[in-house]
Amino acid sequence: MVSLKTTIGKLELKNPVILASGTCGFGKEIKSLIDVNKLGAIVTKTITLNKKEGNPPPRIAETASGLLNSIGLDNDGLKDFLFEKISYLGKLKIPVIVSIAGNTTEEFTKLTKEISKIPCIKGIEINLSCPNVIHKGTKFPLLAQDKKATEAIIAKLRKVTKKTLIAKLSPSVTDIKEIAKAAESGGADAISLVNTYPGMLVDIYTMKPKLGAVTGGLSGPCIKPLALKCVWDAYNTVNIPIIGMGGIMTSGDAIEFILCGASAIQVGTANFVNPKAPLEILEGIKQYLKEKKVNSIKSLIGKLKNNEK
Ligand SMILES: Cc1cc2nc3c(=O)[nH]c(=O)nc-3n(C[C@H](O)[C@H](O)[C@H](O)COP(=O)(O)O)c2cc1C
Repeated sequence: MVSLKTTIGKLELKNPVILASGTCGFGKEIKSLIDVNKLGAIVTKTITLNKKEGNPPPRIAETASGLLNSIGLDNDGLKDFLFEKISYLGKLKIPVIVSIAGNTTEEFTKLTKEISKIPCIKGIEINLSCPNVIHKGTKFPLLAQDKKATEAIIAKLRKVTKKTLIAKLSPSVTDIKEIAKAAESGGADAISLVNTYPGMLVDIYTMKPKLGAVTGGLSGPCIKPLALKCVWDAYNTVNIPIIGMGGIMTSGDAIEFILCGASAIQVGTANFVNPKAPLEILEGIKQYLKEKKVNSIKSLIGKLKNNEK
C-alpha cells in the first residue's frame, strides 16, 4: 500500500490532488462530472466582500497549449457565499479551502474573519495575485508583486484566523524567492503558486483584442516550465509547504511539481479539457509510486536529483 497523505499547515490531505480556484466553481457545478470526495481538497472560486460583475465578454480565449482568461473575479459576494454556496460545500467529505480577494486590507480582513467562523471551511487561500483586479494597498499592479504589502497583509490576516492560511502568489515577479519569503514571514502556513501569467491575444480579422478586457491571465500546459521554476525557487527558499500548479494535465506533470518541492498540486485548466483529469492524475501518481517502489508521496517532495553522475 502506498501512502498519498500530505500535510498543508493544519490540513491533513488524504492525497495531494486539489481542484484549483476558479476552475470548479463551488463544487456543485462539477458534481455530475467528477466525484470530488475522492480528491485531496477543493479550492473555491475567489469570493469578494461584495458581488462583482467581472470583466466584459469575451472572457476566455484559447491559445497554443493554453487558455487566456479575464473573468475578473465575477462572483456573488460574501453574503451569497454564506447563505447559498456553503450548504453544498458543507456536505463534502474533503477539506474545503475558500479563496478570497479584496480591494483593500479591510475587505480581506472582514472576509477572513467571517469565513473563519464556519467550521466546515478548513483553509483560506488569499488571492494576492489575480491579474484582473486592482488593489488599493500597493503601487504595484498586484499585491503579490510587493514584498512589503504581501508580508503586511498576511501578518494582518494571521492575527484574525486560526484556519490554515495559504498565500497564492503570482509568477509575474522579478524574484519569486523574495515574495515567498515575505509570505512566510507574515505567518502563512503555506504558499500556492502559480496564478496565471499576464498576456493578450489579437483577432487579426477584426484587428481587436480577443478578450473584452484586452489583457488577461494565461494558464495551461504552456506555462508549466515557468511554473515549475517558481515552485523550485520557492522550495529552496522557504520552510512552509508549497502547493504547486500551472499546466498540470497528467500525473507526470504533477510528479514533476512534487519532485520540485510541491507538497500538493492543484489542477485548473485541465478541468475544462477533461473534468476527470484530477482523478486520472491521482491514479497515475499511485501507479508511479508503485512502479518506483516509493511507499509515500511525502518522501518524493523536493527529491529532484542533481545532474552529477
Ligand atoms: C477560467 C479561470 C478562472 C480562474 N479564476 C481564479 C480565481 O478566481 N482565483 C484564483 O486564485 N485563481 C484563478 N484562476 C487561476 C487558477 O487557479 C490557476 O492558478 C492557474 O490557472 C494555473 O493553473 P492551471 O494552468 O492548471 O490552470 C483561474 C484560472 C482560470 C483558467
